[in-house]
Amino acid sequence: MQMDDRSTQPQGSAAPQSRRSRTVRSVTFTVAALTLCLVSALAATGLARMLRPAQPPLEPVPNEQKPQAARLPASLFRNWKKPDLALVVSAQQHGYLLPCGCSRPQKGGLERRCNFLQRLKEINWPVAAVDLGDIPQRHGAKDLPNVQGKLKYLYSMHALREMRYLAVGLGEYESALSLFDILGEYALNNPAPRVVVANIADAESKFPEQTRPWEIYEVAGTNLRVGVTSIIGKSVQSKMLDPNLKFADNRTVLKRVLQEMADAPKKADLRVLLLQGSKEEAELCARDFPAFNVIVCLSAEDEPSSEPKRIDDRIIVATGHKGRYIGVVGVYRTGERAKPVELKYQLVSLDEDFLTAPGEVANHPVLKLMEQYTAQLKKDDYLGKYGAGKHPLQLAVPGDVPVYVGSEKCKKCHDSAFEVWKNSKHAHAYQTLVDVKQPSNRQYDAECIVCHTVGFGYESGFRNERNTPKLKDVGCESCHGPGSKHVADWNNEKWQALMNPWKPKENETAREKTERMHRVDKFCQGCHDIDNDVHYKFEERWPKVAHPTGK
Ligand code: HEC
Ligand code: HEC
Ligand code: HEC
Ligand code: HEC
Repeated sequence: MQMDDRSTQPQGSAAPQSRRSRTVRSVTFTVAALTLCLVSALAATGLARMLRPAQPPLEPVPNEQKPQAARLPASLFRNWKKPDLALVVSAQQHGYLLPCGCSRPQKGGLERRCNFLQRLKEINWPVAAVDLGDIPQRHGAKDLPNVQGKLKYLYSMHALREMRYLAVGLGEYESALSLFDILGEYALNNPAPRVVVANIADAESKFPEQTRPWEIYEVAGTNLRVGVTSIIGKSVQSKMLDPNLKFADNRTVLKRVLQEMADAPKKADLRVLLLQGSKEEAELCARDFPAFNVIVCLSAEDEPSSEPKRIDDRIIVATGHKGRYIGVVGVYRTGERAKPVELKYQLVSLDEDFLTAPGEVANHPVLKLMEQYTAQLKKDDYLGKYGAGKHPLQLAVPGDVPVYVGSEKCKKCHDSAFEVWKNSKHAHAYQTLVDVKQPSNRQYDAECIVCHTVGFGYESGFRNERNTPKLKDVGCESCHGPGSKHVADWNNEKWQALMNPWKPKENETAREKTERMHRVDKFCQGCHDIDNDVHYKFEERWPKVAHPTGK
C-alpha cells in the first residue's frame, strides 16, 4: 500500500485556492513548526515502513469476505460487506493524546486510533476520517493550569494528519486555548486536516486562510466524494470563550453551504455535518436539512450510545468523551436515485485489541510524535513553566508558612508510619514514571508529576529531580501537607492538629468513624480518580497504606 501519496484531495470551496501562506506569528512558533515539520517528514517515511505488513501482503478482500480475516476483533462489523466507504468519526478528545488512565484496562489514545485505521486499510476498505473538535483540554490534570494545552493540540493535529484525517471542527475546548493562537499555529501552516467551520462570521478576515466553510474530498480507493461542513450550535456558541466571535445565523449558513456544495463542479455523494451542538440540535438540523446523510454531534456523557439515531435513511452519531471510542459509518451505494446511499454504523471501543504490535513500535508514526512531545516537554522545561500556589496549610496560620521537607525527615519520630509508607507503592511513584515507555520521559510531564510527587504546584513543593530530589514519590506530605513547622516545633499541638485533619475524636462512634473514613476516601480520590485508578475501591486500597500508631 502506498501511503506517501495523499489519499485525499480537497476540492475548492468558497475560500480562494491560493497557496497557503507560510506566514508565522512568532519566532518561537517558527522553531516549533520546523521541529514539527521535521518530525512529520520522519514519521511519514516511518509510516510507509510501518505499513509494510510483517506478514506477506494481504490479498484484496472480496466483497463478501468478512474483515475478521485481518487484525480486527471478530465482534466488529458482523454482517458487513465491504463498504464503498468507511467514514471514521471521532470527537471530544479533551486532550487525551494517550490512553486515558494509569492502570489497565485503558481505552483510547491516538496511537490505538491510528492502529485501528490502519487495520481497516489492511482489509482494503476505503477509509476517510473526520473529527468534530474539542480536541484540546480545558485544564491540566488535577486542575493544573492549561500550560500544556496548546502543545497537546498541535501534536494531536499532527497525529490526525498522519492518519489522513480530512477535516476537523472546533468548539468550546479550542476556544479555551484562543482560536487565534491555535489556528495561527496549526491551520495556517498545515493544509490538512482542514479546520472546517461555516458559521463564524468574518472567519476569512479573522482567521485568514485558516478555516474553510466546507470542503468536498475525493477519497482514494472509492469513487465516492465526501462533502464536509461544520457549524457551532447555539448551545455551544454561548460557551465559546472568545469574546470577539460573532456567529452567522445557522439556518442561513447551512442553506448556503448546501447550495454551494450542489453547485460545485464535482458534487459530493455523501454530505457530513459536524455539529458542535447537542443531540436535540442535531435532530432539528436533520429534519430541516435532509441533504446531510451523516450528522456528528456532541455527547452529553462520557459513554456514547452504540446505536446511532436514525431519521429516515440518515444518521446522527456521537462518540463519547476522551477519545475512548470511535465511530465507523459504512457507506454503501444503492444505485437508486431516491436513496443513493445506505448507511451502517459501528461504534468501536479503542481497547487493548488495538495495541501496537511489538514489531511496529519502532516506526509507529503516532508513537514517534508522542516521543517528540515528551522530549519537547523535557527540552523546554515545561515543569518550570508552572507557577506555585499556596497549600491550605501555607495559609492556615498567618505569618507561619510551612515548607515541604521530604519523608526522610519524618522517619525519626514516626518509624512505624515510615515503615508502612516505605513498603507501599507510593514510595516508588516517581521511579514508575521514569520507567514508563512509549512514550518515555514522563517524569518531565507535569500532568503526570502532579500525582506522582510531593507538592507539585505548591510553594516549596516538587520542582524537578535536580532541585527537589527529596520530594520525589508520593510522600508523607502529599497527604499531610508541608511539614517544616511541625518538624521544627513537634510539640506544638496546633501544628499536630493541622497535620492530621482526619484525626479521630476521642470515643469516636461507629457512625463518626464511617463519616471520617468517607472523608479520607474522598481525599484519596483526588489522585485515585476514575481516570487514573479504574479499579479503585477504598476498602481495598486503604488497608495497604494505613499506618495507625496503635493507640
Ligand atoms: C521530632 C519528632 C517528629 C518529627 C521529625 C515529625 N513528627 Fe509528627 N509528630 C510528632 C509528635 C510527638 C506528634 C504528636 C504525637 C503523635 O500523635 O504521634 C506528632 C504528630 C504528627 C501527626 C498528627 C498525629 C495525630 O493524629 O495527632 C502527623 C500527621 C504527623 N506528626 C506527621 C508528621 C510528618 C508528615 C512528619 C515529617 C514531615 C513528621 N510528623 C515529623 C513528632 C514528630
Ligand atoms: C498525591 C496523589 C495520591 C494520593 C493523595 C493518594 N495516592 Fe495512592 N497512589 C498514587 C500513585 C501515583 C500511585 C502509584 C504508585 C506507583 O505504583 O508508582 C498510588 C498507589 C497506591 C496504592 C497501590 C496500588 C496497588 O496497585 O497496590 C495504594 C494501595 C494506594 N495508592 C492507596 C491510597 C490511599 C488509601 C490514599 C488515600 C489515603 C491514597 N492512595 C492517596 C497517588 C496518590
Ligand atoms: C490524578 C492523579 C494522577 C495523574 C495525573 C497520573 N497518575 Fe499515574 N497513577 C495514579 C494513581 C492513583 C495510580 C495507582 C493506580 C493503581 O494502583 O491502579 C497511578 C499509577 C500509575 C502507574 C502504575 C500502574 C500500574 O499498573 O502499576 C503508571 C505507569 C502511571 N501511573 C503513569 C502515569 C503517567 C505516565 C501519567 C501522566 C500521563 C500519570 N501516571 C498521571 C495517579 C495519577
Ligand atoms: C496516602 C496518604 C498518606 C500518606 C502517604 C501518609 N499518611 Fe499519615 N495518615 C493519612 C491518613 C488519612 C491518616 C488518618 C487516618 C486514620 O486516622 O487512620 C494518617 C494518620 C497519620 C498519623 C496519625 C496516626 C495515628 O493513629 O495516630 C501519623 C503520625 C501519620 N499519619 C504520619 C505519617 C507519616 C510520617 C507518613 C510518611 C512516612 C505518612 N503519614 C504518610 C494519610 C497518609
